Amino acid sequence: MKLKADKSKGRISRHIYGHFAEHLGRCIYEGIWVGENSDIPNTEGYRTDVLEALRNLKIPVLRWPGGCFADEYHWKDGIGPREGRKRMVNTHWGGVTENNHFGTHEFFRLCELLDCEPYICGNVGSGTVQEMSEWVEYMTFDGESPMADWRRRNGREEPWRLKYFGVGNENWGCGGNMRPEYYADLYRRYQTYTRNYGDNRLYKIAGGPNVDDYHWTETLMREAGRFMDGLSLHYYTIPGSWEQKKSALGFDEADWAETMGKALHMDELITRHSAIMDQYDPEKRVGLIIDEWGTWFLCEPGTNPGFLYQQNSLRDALVAGIHLNIFHKHCGRVHMANLAQAVNVLQAPVLTEGDKLVLTPTYHVLEMYSVHQDNEYLELVFDSPMYTHGSQPLPQISATASRDGEGRIYLSLCNLSHCDGASLTIQVEGAETASVTGRILTHSDLEAHNTFEAPDRIQPAAFRGASLANGLLSCAVPAASVIVLELS
Ligand code: AHR
Repeated sequence: MKLKADKSKGRISRHIYGHFAEHLGRCIYEGIWVGENSDIPNTEGYRTDVLEALRNLKIPVLRWPGGCFADEYHWKDGIGPREGRKRMVNTHWGGVTENNHFGTHEFFRLCELLDCEPYICGNVGSGTVQEMSEWVEYMTFDGESPMADWRRRNGREEPWRLKYFGVGNENWGCGGNMRPEYYADLYRRYQTYTRNYGDNRLYKIAGGPNVDDYHWTETLMREAGRFMDGLSLHYYTIPGSWEQKKSALGFDEADWAETMGKALHMDELITRHSAIMDQYDPEKRVGLIIDEWGTWFLCEPGTNPGFLYQQNSLRDALVAGIHLNIFHKHCGRVHMANLAQAVNVLQAPVLTEGDKLVLTPTYHVLEMYSVHQDNEYLELVFDSPMYTHGSQPLPQISATASRDGEGRIYLSLCNLSHCDGASLTIQVEGAETASVTGRILTHSDLEAHNTFEAPDRIQPAAFRGASLANGLLSCAVPAASVIVLELS
């Protein structure tokens, strides 16, 4: 393997490390928002432990309020005194009553507390152009206007800064079951009235394709590419099939290998959607925004099937590392990615139960990888040994490298094999490096996960399997592991 430390291949936007919080199950309510009167320790109604955990991840951007929920969310129901807010049924997610206690003001305050940028997704499926237009006015207009005055009456004098705005979500499915031709026209119309007030500049994100729907991307880019800044793409890693999902735990080695293969599929999807985007946007002005990714398993037994609550094991850690490596590789086109979802839903970094919290293996990978945020992406030249288990041979090693502003080099390595270690020799070119340190996340049990009873079963540890001499890095990568090395 060669690491070309002097060859920058672009910049890894920190927004690739974005998150997503939907009004779904116990993500917003219980997971983030408990209200000021809760017995659970909170800061202005937000769980203090969750704030601390998410802050520690250096979350750059948070997407809200959905997801499918976005296309039936009516923002005016979520402002003003909480007791008076209209209640609604969350028809997508468990049919539960949504009391709208967490609305626009609460979301922006959450972003302030997390020191991250907001990304709001508007309602195209069941909302009007006027409703979307007025939401943007409410949030970002500084002068005198019906919406800005209403915001002030609700306690917020200054407009908020809002850059990322999604015009609908999954409009091929839960967001209206539209054809791309129809959505492209709606996108053009709705986005027209999302105005740039004062010096606030929206980065407008069109609802993109589902998985490998290349016709959707082609149509959107052709008909509406010049009106957008970003196009979203959703792809979940689902062992089994959409109809017959498998469990988060209790998997065998074949399930492990299948999951690795499905995670790697993200590379092909980005490559092929990007090739279409390149035809219409060779300058790569329009970002491919992977605003939903992660594992999707059967929900934990005994939990509400509409809540999408699942455990998270070492296998999820590998899925996370593989995805981040792929996003880095495509950083010229992938301007943002958002893991689904931040707390208690799907591949969550944080799980809660009552006043307890656990950090999942996915959390630890995100934390270990956060050193790559905003770095120069470096070229790695290598042929991975192969991992064959079941039908499909896969590369055994997924890797990525970057350099930060101080010249430190970071190399992340994922060993996808459930059973074989790998000995790697890496020639570091174009940089004087004298020392290497590292951290590893692994376990002898492929199903290792953290629970409320045993929250520290799998955690990052110091890695001592790497050495550096005369620009040659040697590294023994254990099976089923994620490693982040720092060379200086
Ligand atoms: O993340 C869960 C759901 O998955 C989202 O609401 C939807 O956009 C996607 O289908």
